[in-house]
Amino acid sequence: MRVLLVGGGSREHAIGSVLHRAEAKLLVASKNANPGLEKLATASRRLDPTDAVGISNWAKAERADYAVIGPEAALSAGVADALEGVQVPCAGPTKAAAQVETSKRFCRELLQRNGITETPRFVFAQSQSQVDDAVKGFSTPFVVKPAGLTAGKGVWVQGVDFETAEDGAKYAKQFLTGAGGVVFEEKVEGEEFSQMAFVTDSGVYPMPAVQDYKRAGEGDTGANTGGMGSYSQRDHLLPFLPNSAREKAVDILRRSVAALRREGLRYRGVLYGGFMQTAVGPTLLEFNARFGDPEGINAMTLYEDGDMDELLFGVATGRVDPNLVQFRLRSTVVKYLVPPGYPGSPKAGGQLQVDEPAIEALGVHVYFGSVDTAGPGRMTLSTSRSIALAGEASAIWEAGERVESALAHVKGDYQVRHDIATKSDLSKRWEHMRKLIAPQAKSSPLPLSVAAADAPASSLGDASQVIG
Ligand code: GLY
Repeated sequence: MRVLLVGGGSREHAIGSVLHRAEAKLLVASKNANPGLEKLATASRRLDPTDAVGISNWAKAERADYAVIGPEAALSAGVADALEGVQVPCAGPTKAAAQVETSKRFCRELLQRNGITETPRFVFAQSQSQVDDAVKGFSTPFVVKPAGLTAGKGVWVQGVDFETAEDGAKYAKQFLTGAGGVVFEEKVEGEEFSQMAFVTDSGVYPMPAVQDYKRAGEGDTGANTGGMGSYSQRDHLLPFLPNSAREKAVDILRRSVAALRREGLRYRGVLYGGFMQTAVGPTLLEFNARFGDPEGINAMTLYEDGDMDELLFGVATGRVDPNLVQFRLRSTVVKYLVPPGYPGSPKAGGQLQVDEPAIEALGVHVYFGSVDTAGPGRMTLSTSRSIALAGEASAIWEAGERVESALAHVKGDYQVRHDIATKSDLSKRWEHMRKLIAPQAKSSPLPLSVAAADAPASSLGDASQVIG
């Protein structure tokens, strides 16, 4: 089929690669000429992802059978609505349904109205006095979230990004104009994870759980970013996430989609739940209305040699064959190479030399992001995330080591988090959760499914058991 893919980052390169493998004809609408997508595309055009008219006109002219939308900015600009207007069905929700991501107020109120209570306590503020009242109402640490889109970079956490309630109030006040207000949320303790699912009229089809590394610096220090890397575990759970908790998270996604339907909003696309696994189970922190970046790269890396073209067409048109939703029982690690100074003051214009065949020979995939081609194997960095390297293996840490060895084949000036998914990092997360559940417990080694390279393919049995 002819599929319009909106977006030119590493996530879209990963989606495009799986679609290309399924023999889809790719029509790429993106701001940058992504070197990876340029190679795969039947046609491509430089279009801003928010240019709903330009994108829908081009989709019509190219006779696209359906469309897949990567970035949230396109959803927020109503690109899915414009495409539906020219009879191109879209794997990506309408502007109204995408409010689950684009308006934190809409999302919280939807959940509240529909009795979905597995969320932290929150207060919405739109004026200086409401901000002052809101912070007075928290006797424990809180989190400040701009109500609108901030590419994951606007969230400030007490004890990490600011200390006193007054500092939190001062930070919040800058979002009273323009960003549509601010949400204050009680801070919950635990390990964050992302649970994505394909959603269409016929149901909710979960993908493997993933953990994302949001902070720029090693040891989860520094500023929030769009995501510096991520990992998934071969049984589609996570070291700190038992099957019961993942099922609970998927159930929250299902109930939320049902709530949208009850309120007259059809949702066709990917729904991403950002959860905190606490001592008593998962709490929903936020929704995204699209594949996560980098989490979508983990999912695409694991997608079976099935037909992603048919799967995403099914999402766009309302009916998915569940047999198409199959992910391999392998662990994955994704690490982003970003420009020096990212995210606060990224230095654009530097060059990277990437020996792609040498990296692929290690079993690691290269997904190009915010870069421009500067000759064979050379690329110029922009201000955003440059290249994602995705490794897979039996154990998580092994997949991470593969990515680390691939770095020898990238020359140039970049930042990367070497600590992502190392044995010691995974142990720290596992211990963190164990101590939350049982503070007096002695430390214990990582579970078999995380540590052993030669363990059985899955600790849970076959894929159908895991995927449900
Ligand atoms: N990795 C977080 C996001 O996609 O927003």
